[in-house]
Amino acid sequence: MNNFIDNIPSLPWWTWIFLFLFLVAIWDIFIQRRHTIKHNFPIVGHLRYWLESIGPEMRQYFVANNREELPFNRIERGWIYASAKKENNYEGFGSDRDLYAHQHIFIKNRMMAFSVPEGHPNAIEPTFVPCAKVMGLYNKRKKPFRPSSVVNVSAMSFGSLSAAAVEAMNKGVKKAQAYHNTGEGGLSSYHKHGGNIVFHFGTGYFGVRTPDGNFSMEKMKKLVEDNPCIKAIEIKLSQGAKPGKGGVLPGAKITPELAEIRGVEVGKDVLSPATHKAFSNVQELLAFIEDIANETGLPVGIKGAIGKLDQWEELADLMLATGKGPDFITVDGGEGGTGAAPPSFADHVSLPWVYGFSSLYKVFLNRNLTDRIVFIGSGKLGFPAKAAMAFAMGVDCINVAREAMMSIGCIQAQACHNNTCPTGIATQNKWLQKGIDIPLKSDRLAQYFNTFKKELLEITHAAGYEHPSQFTMDDVQVNVDDNDLNRSLASTYGYNKVKVAFTSVQDLKDCSYLGGKIEDNTLKA
Ligand SMILES: Cc1cc2nc3c(=O)[nH]c(=O)nc-3n(C[C@H](O)[C@H](O)[C@H](O)COP(=O)(O)O)c2cc1C
Repeated sequence: MNNFIDNIPSLPWWTWIFLFLFLVAIWDIFIQRRHTIKHNFPIVGHLRYWLESIGPEMRQYFVANNREELPFNRIERGWIYASAKKENNYEGFGSDRDLYAHQHIFIKNRMMAFSVPEGHPNAIEPTFVPCAKVMGLYNKRKKPFRPSSVVNVSAMSFGSLSAAAVEAMNKGVKKAQAYHNTGEGGLSSYHKHGGNIVFHFGTGYFGVRTPDGNFSMEKMKKLVEDNPCIKAIEIKLSQGAKPGKGGVLPGAKITPELAEIRGVEVGKDVLSPATHKAFSNVQELLAFIEDIANETGLPVGIKGAIGKLDQWEELADLMLATGKGPDFITVDGGEGGTGAAPPSFADHVSLPWVYGFSSLYKVFLNRNLTDRIVFIGSGKLGFPAKAAMAFAMGVDCINVAREAMMSIGCIQAQACHNNTCPTGIATQNKWLQKGIDIPLKSDRLAQYFNTFKKELLEITHAAGYEHPSQFTMDDVQVNVDDNDLNRSLASTYGYNKVKVAFTSVQDLKDCSYLGGKIEDNTLKA
């Protein structure tokens, strides 16, 4: 025995490999019970799991063509990366798209484009594209808010995103004059780096909740009083990737920091129910919106993915009857992203954006209510041509989530749900987050937003308009089928958008509500 031990250091190197493989085989055959393949094919069975785990990356790098991947193909990702890095984001030789493909859109250019006069705000700042409507003006809220940018960061919580990612986004929106929606996880210190905030909450009421999980108006008031960066409040009814789906935040993930921000207990599972406790019908929702707006003075809106229309119709009828209502409505498409959702929800529940938004807009159009609402769209709209289509259909602002993530380095690894995001963006792993250079990434987000706005404006000018709010449903054509190859948005979706009361970009620039500057609307009629 002693002899054998003495000889161990002189064993050839390959015996160590052999020994290691032998131990793996013992483990595979006699100890592990989870994988039949590993049991039946010890050692080589591991290859199958390893190849499966790197399959998405391999396909992305070697196999998939430029336009093939989903949710975002290589051309789309490449455009965001290049825009964010201020690199050349053009393509040469001409489009590689099949322009005759189903659902392909065309924006109709004018014979002579809009020419930006000397001294015009866009002659000075070609990325200045504020919202043409003011949130909360119709309802006479104390602090109306005109978003200074039509492109903004959509709801994504601290918890689903890392601290470093949230901070980079907040610093980025400040540079791009956009707003930052907090998502459901409450307002964290990482959200407070100068960017305007839309405070968002769902059924868990994180950040504004009582110990037993109900909504606390006292906490809501205090939060708004303590944080003047909050310019509007969004109540989440549903999101496109998982409408009507509740969830559990496992106690193991609840660190003292997360518990403090969300108002929950460390280490204890927290339930986000499928429905709200603060209201149970449309009338109560309307009263809830009014209460929050009255107590905080801020514009209050709702976010929803669209399916059945009956309750939206009821809401619109009540708005007509009472003269009250949400200051903004965010319509999320079924193609929307999420930190985590069951595939059957993400793939099948709720309508894709064009169908959902067109159905919803008509509900308010038919009752002449569109002027009272700022419409926000989200669902893969983070590209200039798609945004132009959305404006033609009636949106006033665009929210982007995954596109914003890509601008700060997301590689579409689709690992947001298992805490292993390799780019440190959608993970709480401290080591992975350390790779995020916050000042650099905040510049990247701002550069993506600014390039987006600049190109959207260039398309707008090509169509003969000064501001994207002027797009009409007849300015965009969509390929529908072979017999009747393309039709205007108006005939495809069956309505004409109501003209937005836009006067000039100069007037938007001079507006006292721009970026939520004014505290009290009594200053302005
Ligand atoms: C990581 C992640 C977290 C999200 N968290 C929320 C959330 O807390 N509340 C919500 O309403 N939507 C949430 N969303 C949905 C986005 O706000 C957005 O509506 C959706 O992804 C569509 O926009 P996109 O196509 O630009 O990603 C999340 C999306 C992602 C990718």
